[in-house]
Amino acid sequence: MHLAGKTVVLCVTGGIAAYKAADLTSKLRHAGAAVRVLMTESATQFISPMTFETLSGNRAVVDTFDRNFAWEVEHISLAKAADVFVIAPATANVIAKAAHGIADDMVTTTLLATRAPVVIAPAMNTGMYDNPVTQQNLQTLRARGFHIIDPAAGRLACGDTGRGKLPDTPVLIHGIEKALTPQDLRGQRVLVTAGPTQEAMDPVRFLSNHSSGKMGYAIAARAAMRGAAVTLVSGPTALETPADVTRVDVVSALEMHDAVLARADQQDMIIKAAAVGDYRPAETAPEKLKKGAGDLTIALARNPDILAELGRRKHPGQLLCGFAMETQNLLQNAADKLQRKNCDMLVANSLRDKGAGFGTDTNVATLLFADGHQESEPLMSKESLADTILDRLLAMQSEHK
Ligand code: PMT
Repeated sequence: MHLAGKTVVLCVTGGIAAYKAADLTSKLRHAGAAVRVLMTESATQFISPMTFETLSGNRAVVDTFDRNFAWEVEHISLAKAADVFVIAPATANVIAKAAHGIADDMVTTTLLATRAPVVIAPAMNTGMYDNPVTQQNLQTLRARGFHIIDPAAGRLACGDTGRGKLPDTPVLIHGIEKALTPQDLRGQRVLVTAGPTQEAMDPVRFLSNHSSGKMGYAIAARAAMRGAAVTLVSGPTALETPADVTRVDVVSALEMHDAVLARADQQDMIIKAAAVGDYRPAETAPEKLKKGAGDLTIALARNPDILAELGRRKHPGQLLCGFAMETQNLLQNAADKLQRKNCDMLVANSLRDKGAGFGTDTNVATLLFADGHQESEPLMSKESLADTILDRLLAMQSEHK
């Protein structure tokens, strides 16, 4: 979460979804942001300013009632204080005013004065949302660089079914974080692999490993937050798909091989954080294997090495980042993998380091580069390591240009 220490100016306008802005205020504060709430007078018909004052710890400013000598100063100072300016829910009326520069209340005057990134979350009846005039106004705002969070579809308060619902709080928070994040990966296509593979012995049992998918999912989430078009090829995990990420589910190493290679040529960066099974049972029994009197021996067949194949097929300008999970001789084994698999970078992590490896929210890694230099990263969150990996790949890409 990158909202800590940021000031969010949250404008609540008059629709039934105004009540959801209370939860947004609360979650933003939990994330460490300061929240300053502005309301239109019609929003106060749906929810009381006191709710927002209690949740934000700041006075909620309501236009008409704030027309006093301090008003002029207040709208400019709030406009300047904002790291990000959010209108949620945004009615068709406030969207129309914003598109045409009309400033006739506290919300719209402050909006006109701010230089902060602006996030607009429309919420209204489907007919109003689909109306060409509303769509044209939204297009005008998009073209001006406003961040529009598309409404969700479903049953609306008016009884209609269609687009127009204010999305849930996590979607709004993601949109706000994205507006605050430099889009330095915009235009990049990034493929990430994550999680374990499962190699079936029979319909009931499989061989696998302890990967939770957290490392790969963190890379996919951060790349998408930074503006990349991200495809996540994922083995079986319990994790939710990160926002704005296209996820392709696979089970076995052979399935991962096919899913990755079918998409590899279109990618600018490929990051292989998955723990791929090196072997699979040579045969998968069609029915559950029954236990006999003695031991069971199973023949294992070698799985294809996806990373090595990607290294052979790499096109000019494409960057390939592998991982190495070791329990001994970490750097030596990792350097060997980097070279053998023709990677540009390799992230080496060891099960022996506390806070590193499978299942944790943190990792400790050494980054190895094709030119031979190495960089040791201290214990950090998988999210921070993901950003560091993406930073290094981006820097390599601009060096190559
Ligand atoms: O998922 P988490 O719980 O968050 O744990 C993260 C992690 C430990 C899984 C991750 O940080 C990690 O180290 N991933 C790679 C694990 C691994 O399989 O390492 P390896 O040394 O066996 O493989 C080396 C590289 O070759 C990896 O990029 C792997 O994706 C790739 N590989 C391996 C075998 C194979 N058949 N095909 C491959 O592409």
